[in-house]
Amino acid sequence: MKKVVVLTGAGISAESGISTFRDAGGLWEQYRVEDVATPEGYLKDKALVIDFYNQRRRQLATVEPNEGHRQLVRLEKYYDVQIVTQNVDNLHERAGSTNVIHLHGELTKVRSERNPRLISDIGYKDIHVGDLAEDGAQLRPHIVWFGEAVPEIENAANLCETCDYFIVVGTSMNVYPAAGLIHYVPRSSRCWLVDPNAVPISRDITIIKEKAGTGVKKVVDELIAMSEK
Ligand code: OAD
Repeated sequence: MKKVVVLTGAGISAESGISTFRDAGGLWEQYRVEDVATPEGYLKDKALVIDFYNQRRRQLATVEPNEGHRQLVRLEKYYDVQIVTQNVDNLHERAGSTNVIHLHGELTKVRSERNPRLISDIGYKDIHVGDLAEDGAQLRPHIVWFGEAVPEIENAANLCETCDYFIVVGTSMNVYPAAGLIHYVPRSSRCWLVDPNAVPISRDITIIKEKAGTGVKKVVDELIAMSEK
């Protein structure tokens, strides 16, 4: 089977009702990144940061995957599909995607402040200052904050290096190293971009200027037609 890698960002979950970060009305207009998404912000006010992610987790419990997520699942019958998402929601998994790498962590998991490998599932429950991991250290959201290492990036880059097709959906390509993954994709591999707005990408790419709900279907239909030839 040929290999498809799909890089997704907040835009693929927008039609499920989850705010993007940098669009008008996005999360970074309502909160300062430094306060809620950096290790320094966490050290300054753990309760504020923990509560920010409690709110995101509670909201996640109330939303559903949308057509964009579901269309990517269709592809699995025809291709070896790997999703590489910057999103911390679980909507790809809930739609039925099999292989999902979360570059920036997962809302439904928490980990020990002391040991980054001591990770546990909490589903949609809140955590609080004073809640401890098995090693006695404070539990923190399992989120990669700005300034922290992105442990999954090497795996993701390896997958990009060997993919036959690459699809980018709903990311402003502002955040590295995720935005740099496209440079690992072989020149000979065809690429698509699904986004209602212009995104700066410096390589040959087929642009589908639509929301994920309709745009992803177009790419998936084309890929399935190609696989049947
Ligand atoms: P952004 O908010 O930067 O970009 C969202 C993209 O989605 C934009 O290009 C929009 O045009 C597009 N978009 C909006 N509605 C859409 C729709 N219905 N269908 C398809 N696309 C749509 O979000 P990301 O690029 O994901 O990291 O942001 C990357 C990282 O920055 C996030 O993972 C997060 C954030 O800070 C951390 O918090 C560590």
